[in-house]
Amino acid sequence: MRLAWTTDIHLNHVQMPAWDQWLAQVAAARPDAVLITGDISESDDVIFQLRRIAESIPTPIYFVLGNHDFYFSSIAATRQRVSALARDVDSLCYLSDCGPIELSPTHFLVGEDGWGDATEGDYENSMVRLNDFATIKDFTRVDPIDWPAMLRGQGAESAQRLQDKLAVVPAQAREILVATHVPPFREACWYEGKTTDDHWAPFFVCGQVGKVLRDYARQNPGVQLTVICGHTHHGGTAEMLPNLVVHTAAADYGIPKLDRVLEI
Ligand SMILES: [Fe+2]
Ligand SMILES: [Fe+2]
Repeated sequence: MRLAWTTDIHLNHVQMPAWDQWLAQVAAARPDAVLITGDISESDDVIFQLRRIAESIPTPIYFVLGNHDFYFSSIAATRQRVSALARDVDSLCYLSDCGPIELSPTHFLVGEDGWGDATEGDYENSMVRLNDFATIKDFTRVDPIDWPAMLRGQGAESAQRLQDKLAVVPAQAREILVATHVPPFREACWYEGKTTDDHWAPFFVCGQVGKVLRDYARQNPGVQLTVICGHTHHGGTAEMLPNLVVHTAAADYGIPKLDRVLEI
């Protein structure tokens, strides 16, 4: 099975020729399915873009959402609209709203959006404040003093949902592919070949998802966990444990691209 992986395509920034080029790259990979690890567009456009992708690519499309997909709406409302769409369009599968997907009798796919959850780095002394706080209604309608607790809350919810999914992966699993938007470890949070510092880590690492993954890998040494993510727009690979590897893919605004083909 060939899975074409692409991330942070930010289609609201993409002109027609670049869209066509992206589509041609995906088609040339002859995939059996496509995987998108979030930041597909923004909330007022993401439904349109997902429909357009489903109409243009004849394979199943597995995806999670990234922080940009919620811009100009709320997290819950966007997830609800996207879940409804994915239930309506056969080829679209919103992994955050699905249990484990069987890719083969021994290979499974699970996914979860994730969130930069302020559990890594130094939120209080960080100079970084993402556009998320000015564009996602969950943040704009509360006092900034509540933001770090909200980030931790989003991370906790993602971690719990992921834990629930991993718990029901069948016992015959030998490899689990985990698709998420936010790198789950500092070591997987790349910027120009280096890993993140304390200023960026609160917003670019989902530490609670990382803890779930690490615990699962330790408790299941016979299962290989391969995690794919985006969000930082810079690529790299981190081997956290012998059976837990995280690939983070690079991305550029306006030039969506196929990152790689994963062979199962
Ligand atoms: Fe992005
Ligand atoms: Fe992102």
